[in-house]
Amino acid sequence: MKGVILAGGTGKRLRPLTRIINKHLLPVGPYPMIYWPIQKLREAGIDDILIITNQHDLGSFISLLGLGEELGVRLTYKIQPAAGGIAEALGIASTFVKGEKFVALLGDNIFQDSLVPYIQAFEQQSEGARILLKRVSDPHRFGIATLDLAHNRILDIMEKPKNPSSDYCVTGIYMYGPEVFEYIMLLEPSNRGEFEITDVNNLYIKTNSLQFDFLKGWWIDAGTPESLHQSNQFVFRDLCND
Ligand code: G1P
Repeated sequence: MKGVILAGGTGKRLRPLTRIINKHLLPVGPYPMIYWPIQKLREAGIDDILIITNQHDLGSFISLLGLGEELGVRLTYKIQPAAGGIAEALGIASTFVKGEKFVALLGDNIFQDSLVPYIQAFEQQSEGARILLKRVSDPHRFGIATLDLAHNRILDIMEKPKNPSSDYCVTGIYMYGPEVFEYIMLLEPSNRGEFEITDVNNLYIKTNSLQFDFLKGWWIDAGTPESLHQSNQFVFRDLCND
């Protein structure tokens, strides 16, 4: 299976830290942030990885990571021309994944769990997609799932709801089949002018083909100063022992 890491965006909530440095190159523990999603994929046996970033920052990623030899992976790069949302960025991966199942990670998602059991479950799935959920204390910041726990189903996902229906956040760890690219083509931009990954996942719900698991360990979207700080604390405490 291949991996895709989304590492573009404007990092608005982290300004001025991100005025001249791409968010995914800021320090998390002893490494630049992007090392962590690469490491999570490699640990799960995924070493063929596409990094999608913006034109302006591409050179920095290449200077830092090259073709990935030092990290034991094989890196390919593609550019997202404008910040048009996660789904738009993912669409750029279609020629890289070439009709196979793949794992997509948002490069600012730092988490404790190994991806191995979740990817194994996805491999056994005959069709559709798989996402990972985590309960959060600030649901208005995220994609939030309404669950039918009795039937182990997701009923709906809302992007950054004002009145969240639950505290089950859809993390930026996504597993898709190649049909995702057809779904992306069906999307219209949202109110904030972006192609939303939440709309993609809702299309999977409509066809009854979105499976999920709950992450067990901690999970952080390191996109704000506070969460970046917290990710540093957790990484030094739990992920730097080897
Ligand atoms: C994005 C997604 C959201 C998801 C979150 C996880 O939000 O749109 O559904 O819950 O990532 O990190 P963003 O952080 O880009 O605002």
